[in-house]
Amino acid sequence: QPHKDENVVWHRHHIDKDFRAGQKQQKPCVMWFTGLSGAGKSTVAGALEFRLAELGYHTYLLDGDNVRHGLCRDLGFSTEDRRENIRRIGEVAKLMADAGLIVLSAFISPYRQERQLVRELLPEGEFLEVFVDTPLTECEKRDPKGLYKKARAGEIKQFTGIDSEYQSPQEPEIHLSAGEVSVTELVDLCIASLKERQIIR
Ligand code: PPS
Repeated sequence: QPHKDENVVWHRHHIDKDFRAGQKQQKPCVMWFTGLSGAGKSTVAGALEFRLAELGYHTYLLDGDNVRHGLCRDLGFSTEDRRENIRRIGEVAKLMADAGLIVLSAFISPYRQERQLVRELLPEGEFLEVFVDTPLTECEKRDPKGLYKKARAGEIKQFTGIDSEYQSPQEPEIHLSAGEVSVTELVDLCIASLKERQIIR
């Protein structure tokens, strides 16, 4: 029933994430990239975000180094701090998925239990674990920030893969053998998986 004054319009409450995302013809999800330092998480997630943006999808990339300058600036790399880092990012990713976005997150996230907690924050099918599987030897060879060298020299303590544990995903939704394959091909694999899951068209 329209209001008698035509200038009083219906205010649609309860806009939910399907509605927000539907306007973009996409299903919201969290693509959770995990892997060693130097594995290529940020590179692949960044290239994937670029491809999705070109295709007209609405995305947000949560990236390790950037988040550690703001949201998680008080946290270091102890087991407890890494847990809290992942917990906070998981909650933020959830809010962003609720806003209808395809969220890409790129953090080492070394512990299975924390990744599982994030998975459980999200509805079934909305959490896609993406294992950026580059062998430690290759990461160490790349050493883009010189951190492995420092860790080997004992100048950085609790470095993932050296003296801090990385627990590989056992059943990731997407498994990228990132040591051998080009970034473009890895992005293609991710796009194919998103289509298969009807997250994008
Ligand atoms: S975690 O484990 O998920 O909380 O780590 P994350 O927030 O992704 O941060 C990883 C980046 O921080 C730098 N860095 C370290 N990584 C691992 N161990 C130690 N001790 C450490 N100290 C600093 C490193 O550059 C990581 O960047 P990426 O992009 O992963 O190489």
